Amino acid sequence: LSIFKIAIDGPAASGKSTTSRYVAHRLGFMHIDSGAMYRAITLKALRQNIKFESHNGISHIINLAHNSSIQFATTKPIGSSGGDNAPQTMVYLDDEDVSADIRTMDVTRNVSFVAAIPEIRKVMLAKQRGYANSTNIDGVVMDGRDIGTVVLPDAQLKIFLTANANVRAMRRYEQLKLKDKKVVFEEILRDLEKRDKADLERKVSPLRKAIDAVVLDTTTLTLNEIVGKIIEMTNKLR
Ligand code: C5P
Repeated sequence: LSIFKIAIDGPAASGKSTTSRYVAHRLGFMHIDSGAMYRAITLKALRQNIKFESHNGISHIINLAHNSSIQFATTKPIGSSGGDNAPQTMVYLDDEDVSADIRTMDVTRNVSFVAAIPEIRKVMLAKQRGYANSTNIDGVVMDGRDIGTVVLPDAQLKIFLTANANVRAMRRYEQLKLKDKKVVFEEILRDLEKRDKADLERKVSPLRKAIDAVVLDTTTLTLNEIVGKIIEMTNKLR
């Protein structure tokens, strides 16, 4: 029996991770958040005070990528009872839980630089295909920018999520405001547009919709509706 692969791509804050997490949870599939992998390498580089733009810095980051273990685990939050049983995807870098640390502004601002280094993408690609071919899983939901086009071109289902930039920035703003009251909406919107531009314009594996991907616009659809549609499509294909 072959592993069922779902690729979910789209720009920053289009709802990829949350959607993928719920879809994976409902189907009993593994969730791989490929953006979290680039974030984990970025976090490791920042912790070591590597000078990003220098030649030495780049070879140092490449070395880090070669020598890092990145693992995922999907769990329900401890003590969740009643209404909110939202699944969570935990990310482990060299066996340390970095799920929260990879979401800081500092990591977010530097991650597109790291993700544009061709050698880094090569190392991540091998890891990503490795997860998707684990023998002990029924299926995988992988989200990112180049999953349908480059990482899993053989995925049975490809989804491209879009949403208006203002709507995406507002979602991210509301998430961040819960943790930090000082966040500024305009700053989030600016960062988001800058990251989209870098992801769209880079030479290796830019953000692209695969020709065979189904486009879902999350501006007007709720999370439940999106998840429902993807589950329905999967059940038809399986
Ligand atoms: O999905 P998320 O916003 O966490 O991704 C962080 C960054 O990682 C993106 O802005 C992009 O630069 C990079 N990325 C990528 N390819 C992927 C997933 C993420 O280049 N498949």
